[in-house]
Amino acid sequence: MGKSQLNIVILAAGQGTRMCSGLPKVLHPLAGKPMLQHTIDTARELLPAKLSVVYGHGGEQVPQQIADPAINWVLQAEQLGTGHAVMQALPEVENDDIVLVLYGDVPLLSAETLALLTEYADRELCLLTVHLEDPTGYGRIVRDEHGQVTAIVEHKDADDNQRRISEVNTGILAVNGGKLKAWLGCLENNNAQGEYYLTDIIAMAVNDGIAVRVSHPAESFEVLGVNSRQQLAQLERIYQQQQAERLMQQGVTLADPQRFDIRGKLSSGQDVTLDINVIIEGSVTLGDNVSVGANCVLKDCELADGVQVLPMSVIENARIGAGSRIGPFARIRPGTELAAQTHIGNFVELKNSQVGAGSKINHLSYVGDTTIGERSNIGAGVITCNYDGANKHRTEIGDDAFIGSDCQLVAPVKIGDGATIGAGTTLTGDAPENTLTLSRTKQKTVMGWKRPTKKGSSD
Ligand code: UD1
Ligand code: CA
Repeated sequence: MGKSQLNIVILAAGQGTRMCSGLPKVLHPLAGKPMLQHTIDTARELLPAKLSVVYGHGGEQVPQQIADPAINWVLQAEQLGTGHAVMQALPEVENDDIVLVLYGDVPLLSAETLALLTEYADRELCLLTVHLEDPTGYGRIVRDEHGQVTAIVEHKDADDNQRRISEVNTGILAVNGGKLKAWLGCLENNNAQGEYYLTDIIAMAVNDGIAVRVSHPAESFEVLGVNSRQQLAQLERIYQQQQAERLMQQGVTLADPQRFDIRGKLSSGQDVTLDINVIIEGSVTLGDNVSVGANCVLKDCELADGVQVLPMSVIENARIGAGSRIGPFARIRPGTELAAQTHIGNFVELKNSQVGAGSKINHLSYVGDTTIGERSNIGAGVITCNYDGANKHRTEIGDDAFIGSDCQLVAPVKIGDGATIGAGTTLTGDAPENTLTLSRTKQKTVMGWKRPTKKGSSD
């Protein structure tokens, strides 16, 4: 017999009534990603030959949202039980496959736990179990006097003695495909819930003389399932705690590991410091000695060595050069690239702009669709008027330019190297290099002018 191929079946058809939601349960996000996607990503780490997801409740929403052409989507039109769900995927199962059954609402399982579980699954029925202080609701693992597993009994079908068993079924199992097909073909639904229980195959295996091998997850939280928003929040905290631990082990300083959230991937250099309530989304890369202040959101961005992000700043889809200082209260929007040693100060919004090394935009500005050279200074309140109501236009500013405060740069417009723009200018034409350009109405003083007084006042 050749080496068995791994065929993973993820069950995700259940309703999730207790979520009280219009969104199918398995699409609720954990760490910014649908629960089901976590299970899929972990499954992929095992390099399965086939990956099927059984869906049903919520209809096409699930395959549409996950939108992964490599998944074999299997519709279970009526949810008649876990055994019935696995049956729907059988057309894709070969007799010498190893079939691994996972749940779309058990998102924290590790690939290590699954690799251990499947190790002997070409010969034995491999079952993942845990001991719980409160096993209420779970299927119980029934063993004989030699400690051999003989059956799984669902809570609703169990007698008082069986309900005292603390070892429970996680639902996750791995077994030979041919045997699974044979056993599922014999399932009946004469039980308390009128469902086809996948768990009934355990007694069938025992009957056929197939050994049942039990393994446990590396961490017991791995097998926690989500049935309610409370459980979802608990799992979110466990997940975040894990991420925080991992980052601290890698040398990241977290001001408070309880107040740090990562919804994606963070790769970081040495001696990175993250203050409280930093949120990392998508894919974020931080160089050595980067520090991020309180309440910052960093999404899909790259910060080079020594970048300092001061509190309350939001950076999305941008690259920040070494030694730059951002914020407080800065908003860096997609398409922005800052070279080294730039300063972006408070209430500055940047969008789709490239800023050269050493340039500064320190106060109250909107700079969009703009290229700025090196060592230029953009004064307080400078606005690029990049949108004419129909189209966006670019502003180009050279090296060593000085834009006075409160200028409007009406794009398309070019400002040459070394040019100075007087404060308050509305720039509608190009400003040549090394000149002063300004638009300003002449100042006048009205002599003897009196302020109006309030009508009807006696004085
Ligand atoms: C199941 C196990 C139980 C175990 C528990 C662990 C069975 C009969 N029981 O019980 O031993 O302790 O999980 O959490 O297997 N699903 C479908 N289609 C269906 C029914 C369920 O896709 O027709 C999916 C659900 O979406 C869910 C998973 O299968 O992801 C488990 O279903 P659920 O009804 O929660 O199983 P339990 O009754 O909790
Ligand atoms: Ca059930």
